[in-house]
Amino acid sequence: METVEKQISKAVISRLPRYYRYLGELMEDGVERISSNELSQRMRVTASQIRQDLNNFGGFGQQGYGYNVKYLYTEIAKILGIDRQHNVIIIGAGNLGQAIANYSSFEKRGFVIKGMFDINPRLIGLVVRGIEIRGVDDLETFIVENEVQIAALTIPKTKAPEIADRVIRAGVKGIWNFAHVDLNVPDDVVVENVHLSESLMRLCYRVCSMQDDENGEKGTS
Ligand code: NAI
Repeated sequence: METVEKQISKAVISRLPRYYRYLGELMEDGVERISSNELSQRMRVTASQIRQDLNNFGGFGQQGYGYNVKYLYTEIAKILGIDRQHNVIIIGAGNLGQAIANYSSFEKRGFVIKGMFDINPRLIGLVVRGIEIRGVDDLETFIVENEVQIAALTIPKTKAPEIADRVIRAGVKGIWNFAHVDLNVPDDVVVENVHLSESLMRLCYRVCSMQDDENGEKGTS
């Protein structure tokens, strides 16, 4: 599988979670197989894009049969690495950290939130959906003992670089970064930035462009 993974472009990988979500819904609806055309209609992407994307993995589809939904779902899970458990911690147990901790569906994807950390003494000791909030003093020990691979950073941007260094030194390989700062990490560590405000700005641009177009059309008529 390693050789396959190396050839897959980042663009295809970035689309896999969406395929995975749709295939999961199909399975819930009891659908066992689906053609690229049907999947294309549901997902609103072209059938040729679907065929191209899924052919990257040796072609899960069969002519005249379509795709075996469960098989494809399982294979995509393997490719994304979500067919196994990943231990996660959340650093910063404020509004955002607690919202993430309260979202139980991450566990269905194999992401198990092992612990939360904060520096606010009023939060330390509280329990959110069964997850205890701890002080950051025992952060490194906790990471090692719980084989934590992923750390979500929901702390102020001024604190994020130092905390990122600490978790990386303790063995964390993936940082899910919500703090508004670009982190410098070693080559064997990956960062996924999640910035809702950037997404909102992109949406704003599209809404505004649409309005400008409409106004332009009205102006010219
Ligand atoms: P919040 O103030 O409710 O929570 C932040 C928590 O981090 C507090 O409980 C604080 O005690 C803790 N903290 C501060 N320094 C720490 C350290 N060194 N170690 C451990 N914990 C520490 O703020 P909120 O709303 O939860 O936002 C958290 C961060 O996420 C902020 O930086 C905010 O700008 C950012 N944010 C990012 C979003 C995104 O889409 N990327 C969306 C919303 C917030």
